Amino acid sequence: MPDTRILLLGNAASDPLVKVLGRTGRVLTRIEGPEQLASVPPDQHVVVLDAAPAPRTLADMCREVRGQPALAEVPILAITATDDVEERIALLEAGADDVMIRPVDDRELDARVEALDLRHRRSRELRPSTFVATTRRPGRRLIVVYSPKGGVGTTTVTVNTALAIAARQPDQVAVVDFTPMGGHVATYLNLVPKLTLADLIRDSQGMISPEILRATYLTRHVSGVLLLAGSPAPGTQALMTGEEATRILDGVLAAIPTVIVDLGSHLDDRVMASIDAADDAVIVVTPDFPTLKSVHAFFEFLGQSGSKAAEPTVVVNETFALQTLTPGDIENALSRRVTIRIPYDPLLYLRAANQGTPVYSGAPTSQPARRFDQLAGLLLGEDAPASPPEQRRRGIAGIFGRN
Ligand SMILES: Nc1ncnc2c1ncn2[C@@H]1O[C@H](COP(=O)(O)OP(=O)(O)O)[C@@H](O)[C@H]1O
Ligand SMILES: [Mg+2]
Repeated sequence: MPDTRILLLGNAASDPLVKVLGRTGRVLTRIEGPEQLASVPPDQHVVVLDAAPAPRTLADMCREVRGQPALAEVPILAITATDDVEERIALLEAGADDVMIRPVDDRELDARVEALDLRHRRSRELRPSTFVATTRRPGRRLIVVYSPKGGVGTTTVTVNTALAIAARQPDQVAVVDFTPMGGHVATYLNLVPKLTLADLIRDSQGMISPEILRATYLTRHVSGVLLLAGSPAPGTQALMTGEEATRILDGVLAAIPTVIVDLGSHLDDRVMASIDAADDAVIVVTPDFPTLKSVHAFFEFLGQSGSKAAEPTVVVNETFALQTLTPGDIENALSRRVTIRIPYDPLLYLRAANQGTPVYSGAPTSQPARRFDQLAGLLLGEDAPASPPEQRRRGIAGIFGRN
């Protein structure tokens, strides 16, 4: 592995860190203030923030580092004097990837820098599979988010990706909560919908009028995300057929050009019909063996069922503090490329869920928010060559079918 290039932002008091950060195998650059950021040698691997020149705070410095195009993606380790939770949150929200509290133990600093460097290099090795701008219905895009295992972050990914799309195209993206005993999307967005999917199913038997849908059943979030909420009452959606699912999605797509569906983690006709109709099937995976096993089994099932599903987009959601499986392990286990990894955080997601302000809106410069933004860009086919649908639509059977 080539030398690790580390940028230390500190002052004279940072001298003790130099022994660790400048050890053999590392190339250390030291600066004292943000005005020197522009002249930092390229391709840094880790940034360590130890001190901010007054009146700036460490969080200000975090934002300044993130504002430099060459450093926007480089992991940041911030070292603070207090174990105050608010300060920690402020740093994470400003874009820090890890926070250490003084006094700093040499071996711990060494290990954290090493871990940040490794994680960053691995995520850069991931090459997203080709996304194309074309969709099944011209000018309309249906994205579904699913995982055969519950609790892996399906709703978190749906909501934040929708917000990232709304940031580009406000009022042009709808979230449909198809989860049985749903309602979580509304909670995550802190919305209180008057009507839910259950009402729509009951009220509409045939064609769904786009005007009525927009005016009556979609609840608007300040971000410009429109929500067709799930019903928190048990029972209703469990009875939904595949045909009904397709009819509702077609109806929403006629009213709103981009639709993203939270499919939850059950497997029934509703889910299969939605996956079959989708332009992009995002499969959320956590890096643990039970999840990988059920996702693998699900892919095999799709391959054998003759499904017309699009090639899935695998999103690894790091819900664990410690990384025991590498992206390589995950790709081997699934025989699939991983498209993007959503980083772990002990506080941001939980706070987001409790406050009804998703990470994308509440902590826009944080690492998770930036990853959701990248995911949205990939799904929308930004920067992708527009190629004929046949290339994309080769169907899952071709990938997972036995040979
Ligand atoms: N990368 C992550 N790091 C830490 N916690 C996470 C992460 N992703 C999701 N969570 C938390 O995990 C819990 C389950 O997420 P949720 O999206 O509701 O899962 P699902 O919809 O698959 O059941 C939520 O409390 C959420 O805030
Ligand atoms: Mg959920």
